[in-house]
Amino acid sequence: MNIPYPQKRPRRLRASDSIRALVRETCIKPADLINPFFVISGKGIAEPISSMPGVCRLSVDTLLIEVGQLVELGIPAVLLFGIPVYKDARGSSAADPQEAVQQAVTAVKDKYPAISVITDICLCEYTDHGHCGLVKEGKILNDQTLELLAEVALSHVRAGADAVAPSDMMDGRVAAIRAALDSEGFEERAIISYAAKYASAFYGPFREAAGSAPQFGDRRSYQMDPANVREALREVLLDEEEGADVIMVKPALAYLDVIRAVRETVNLPIATYNVSGEYAMVKAAAANGWIDEQQVILEQLTAMKRAGADMVFTYHAREAARWLSD
Ligand code: PBG
Repeated sequence: MNIPYPQKRPRRLRASDSIRALVRETCIKPADLINPFFVISGKGIAEPISSMPGVCRLSVDTLLIEVGQLVELGIPAVLLFGIPVYKDARGSSAADPQEAVQQAVTAVKDKYPAISVITDICLCEYTDHGHCGLVKEGKILNDQTLELLAEVALSHVRAGADAVAPSDMMDGRVAAIRAALDSEGFEERAIISYAAKYASAFYGPFREAAGSAPQFGDRRSYQMDPANVREALREVLLDEEEGADVIMVKPALAYLDVIRAVRETVNLPIATYNVSGEYAMVKAAAANGWIDEQQVILEQLTAMKRAGADMVFTYHAREAARWLSD
């Protein structure tokens, strides 16, 4: 037998931990991670969310305890979602300064001024119909929703939010929010735009957590078709033009190609959102002993960064940061 020996040997650079460390192209660290939280009014509350093991709806006091742990771990930011006391057709509670999210923003910034507080801007948690905009005759109204979104964003920055993250997918919301913030002297607060947000079944557990499932129809008239990538680039370029500071792709794992395409199209920082359904799948498989939880999570987070994301919104933030600092 005359089998030729290889002339090139890539395995040389895989021979030891130290050589692998030297040639590693992507590195995930606590400073890349943003932890989302669900906040409700009340005291001493930590209500588990059944489809998201390890994640709870928190009142402001219990939230502060968790944020303190994140600060210790070197996580630079949190994303806050509010679960309101009341809902109506216009989502009025979304801009109410007495509501949980506004109270939480102020409390976190008071206690931990160094951590960045980002808030989600949307109406679906606050409307009785569960849609992300105003509804008339079964249709989601675009332009009439913009003013409400701008009001919500203003209420969050007045409470102290460093950045707002519109996730509603109405056309023109970034420009509307930018104009509103600037007109009230908040020109230094950033906009992290959910620019390429798909109509995804991976949001299922979130809708249980936030009680925000649409009461009729679905979100396909405003969120993007999972089949499209060029359309994502159009969305991203529009949001850049409208003044977005950071561009988000959401969900993450089934959309790594979109992250890559966006990376090659804009020079803005890119975020991706490792969403509730992605989290739930990992937790369920791990609970059954079918996968190595820690390795799977770190592999996934690394893949998101390798695809081109600079930062990752993830419910795994705290556990991942612990493993990374071990
Ligand atoms: C609000 C919003 C959603 C998520 C973030 N902001 C739900 C939706 O669009 O239905 C999903 C987050 C997750 O699944 O973790 N519009």
